[in-house]
Amino acid sequence: MKSNGKVVLLTGASTGMGFEMMTRLAAAGYRLCVLSRSPELLRSDLLGGRWQERIDVFGVDLKERESVDKAVGETLELYGQIDVLINNAGFGLVSTLEEVEDSEMLEQFDVNLFGLVRVTRAVLPTMRRQGEGVIVNISSFLGRVGLPLLSFYNASKYAVEGITDSLRLELAPFGIRVHSVMPGFFSTQFARSNLRINAGIEQEDSPYRSLSRRLAPKVLRQINEGNDPRLVAEAILKILENPEAPVRIPVGETARRFLTMRRELNDKEYERRVMEFYGIETE
Ligand SMILES: NC(=O)c1ccc[n+]([C@@H]2O[C@H](COP(=O)([O-])OP(=O)(O)OC[C@H]3O[C@@H](n4cnc5c(N)ncnc54)[C@H](OP(=O)(O)O)[C@@H]3O)[C@@H](O)[C@H]2O)c1
Repeated sequence: MKSNGKVVLLTGASTGMGFEMMTRLAAAGYRLCVLSRSPELLRSDLLGGRWQERIDVFGVDLKERESVDKAVGETLELYGQIDVLINNAGFGLVSTLEEVEDSEMLEQFDVNLFGLVRVTRAVLPTMRRQGEGVIVNISSFLGRVGLPLLSFYNASKYAVEGITDSLRLELAPFGIRVHSVMPGFFSTQFARSNLRINAGIEQEDSPYRSLSRRLAPKVLRQINEGNDPRLVAEAILKILENPEAPVRIPVGETARRFLTMRRELNDKEYERRVMEFYGIETE
């Protein structure tokens, strides 16, 4: 796909990978409509910037169908077309399965999975009419392997992988290709602002206290010291420019390491290594 005149709709670009995708794609000549929870803040960040004229920002609540439909409608009013959709917005819930609140687990899926579905559903009539389009879902290596305390984040990203696989087949007849990008750990705002910690695991009498004490700081450090999010932006650009791009693309060291181990080791050996690395003890 040549960038000239093409319109990209992107979710969650205030920080991290989304912000890098936005500026990288604008620099490559794409026009962008960004859907954000805090449009004013993002607009002021862009003010006077190099690519400002190629980027428009609309407010959205991904948990509300009407809000999503309105934001996609505003994009179409402005540009009359949507060539690329990048579903990037997401957050992480840190909780054990036993201690999770219903509201927490529902919200994890409402944003990471159903938000993606709402935006995609609103965009598809346009892409079908155009007879072409590219959809990229930002999943995670945690959409293929599990980690304790991240069950619901894991489950939401496994679901993103599942939807991506069926959507690819469902949309092939319309000339729309669908990919997933599976980042490893990346240094973004994710661990600093967008991880929600369930109150239960922080209680001294939680049966999971010792597990969370060992695991949580290690994972947080891995994220904060992770790869540069610009790598993800480069991977997206490659997908857009190459119609033969792989359907699923791991990006970053952790993703490659975990996914290779998962593929090459049997279940028992794989889990032994993960438990050893994170200091998870059995009775
Ligand atoms: N960092 C990592 O190690 C890592 C690893 C694998 C996968 N990922 C995935 O990569 C994507 C981007 O994350 P990032 O690392 O760039 O993190 P980030 O800096 O926290 O950015 C995530 C963006 O998603 C939007 N967002 C966050 N919480 C939201 C909520 N509750 N409702 C709606 N939108 C929300 C925000 O954009 P607005 O404020 O503009 O709406 C935010 O800027 C996410 O889907 C994440 O799951 C991250």
